[in-house]
Amino acid sequence: MQIFPNQKDTSNVTGTSYTREDWQAGYQSLKQEFDYWVEDIEGEIPPELNGTLFRNGPGLLDINGQNIHHPFDGDGMVCRITFTNRRAHFSNRYVRTPGYVEEQKAGKVLYRGVFGTQKPGGWLANFFDLQNKEIANTNVIYWGGKLLALWEASEPYRLDPQTLDTLGKEYLDGGLAKGDAFSAHPRFDPSSKLDGGEPCLVNFSIKPTGLSTTITIFELDTRGKVIRKHAHSIPGFAFIHDFAITPNYCIFFQNPVSFNPLPFLTGMAGAGQCVKFQPDKSTRVIIIPRNPKNREMKTLETHSGFVFHHVNAFERDQEIIIDSVCYESFPEIEPGSDFRQVDFDAIAPGKLWRFHLNLEEGKVTRKLLESRCCEFPSIHRENVGRDYRYLYIGAAHDATGNAPLQAFQKIDLETGDRQMWSVAPRGFGGEPIFVPRPHATAEDDGWVLAVIYDAEHHRSDVVILDAQDLHRQPVARLHLKNHIPYSLHGNFTDEVFVDD
Ligand SMILES: [Fe+2]
Repeated sequence: MQIFPNQKDTSNVTGTSYTREDWQAGYQSLKQEFDYWVEDIEGEIPPELNGTLFRNGPGLLDINGQNIHHPFDGDGMVCRITFTNRRAHFSNRYVRTPGYVEEQKAGKVLYRGVFGTQKPGGWLANFFDLQNKEIANTNVIYWGGKLLALWEASEPYRLDPQTLDTLGKEYLDGGLAKGDAFSAHPRFDPSSKLDGGEPCLVNFSIKPTGLSTTITIFELDTRGKVIRKHAHSIPGFAFIHDFAITPNYCIFFQNPVSFNPLPFLTGMAGAGQCVKFQPDKSTRVIIIPRNPKNREMKTLETHSGFVFHHVNAFERDQEIIIDSVCYESFPEIEPGSDFRQVDFDAIAPGKLWRFHLNLEEGKVTRKLLESRCCEFPSIHRENVGRDYRYLYIGAAHDATGNAPLQAFQKIDLETGDRQMWSVAPRGFGGEPIFVPRPHATAEDDGWVLAVIYDAEHHRSDVVILDAQDLHRQPVARLHLKNHIPYSLHGNFTDEVFVDD
């Protein structure tokens, strides 16, 4: 059994590490938009920590009292937490997509959602209405001087980083066409081989094309200009949320799922509910060269399973090594169900696996790295696509079973050591973001930033953890005046957009 010395005393946690009521309360809508300096702080913000943590996620879980069917259908709300001169500032704004603006004006649901939200009036009201609401709720990134709220179904929305006002859809100076998708999981290449070692941003889009799927790769330079764009066709339907990069390749896991559009077309279910897991089929690993001149795509096969997120990938000899959070099956969302009543015990937990992709032999081997329920991995941004030692990930409090994320774990891939900091029983976590200390040389010299939901006070805290000693009490814990509904992804930039 793994021992975590100095961990917060959780001896009052027996049986399950949380109550359903506490967990559900983190899914209350936040309708207000705030701008304030955080005054209630335990500990001290490190003087070297300056910059901005942006986060995105569903802020509204209801429209004027009418519950949406799944959090993934919730309107995107961008939060900005600024660290400057030992102070912290919080603000949040909704992404003003047309759907958000129209529904807020009407005071009711006007659009269907991909994950099952239906217009009132039953299936007839939704019959052959194929227009899903645009929500821009999955990630937010500052790149090339632009703040972009991302979601995978269409173009990103650009926001003003000073005011968080929505500026409109972003087409990357012509790199995107109207209606083009741009995934919510771009990868930062700290030193692009194709660009003389300059950093670049790599992203992709998925487009169904009849019986096949088109994967398009985008690479953006530091000014945000698309410098490479190439499309590849793979057979079959693909539900691909994330990918990984190395200096030479993009790697995709084509999960074994099928898509039957009939329930969506006839108004019975959302498009995302028409995805069915196929446990008897393999996962296809698609390896696409980043150099557009090299069209030699490789496809390998591995065990059946479902992956939302990859941690990282790197090349070693004839292999690509990729670390991923895998589920035994796709957690389907039933039309009649309520996500707030989800039976965690009935769903297989995400676990961390390492895959070795042997490019010469065309074979895949894998090993389990972490059996504890976990999700939302992150690493030092300078190690993306490179061999690395440390990863940080949201984790369940208990070592076995499936449960909400209530802890943050650091895994040393070299020694196997783990450190964990838990906020059970009344706290709930999510994605940790590693921020390196300026001029640091050690890979883990820096901080882990995370937002936790504190059910006891119905508010969220921003925590700053010492990444070298995760199981210590936080360096600082910033008590916000409000809660933030469980968010999805975010990023840190050294830039500051608030006047001190
Ligand atoms: Fe994601």
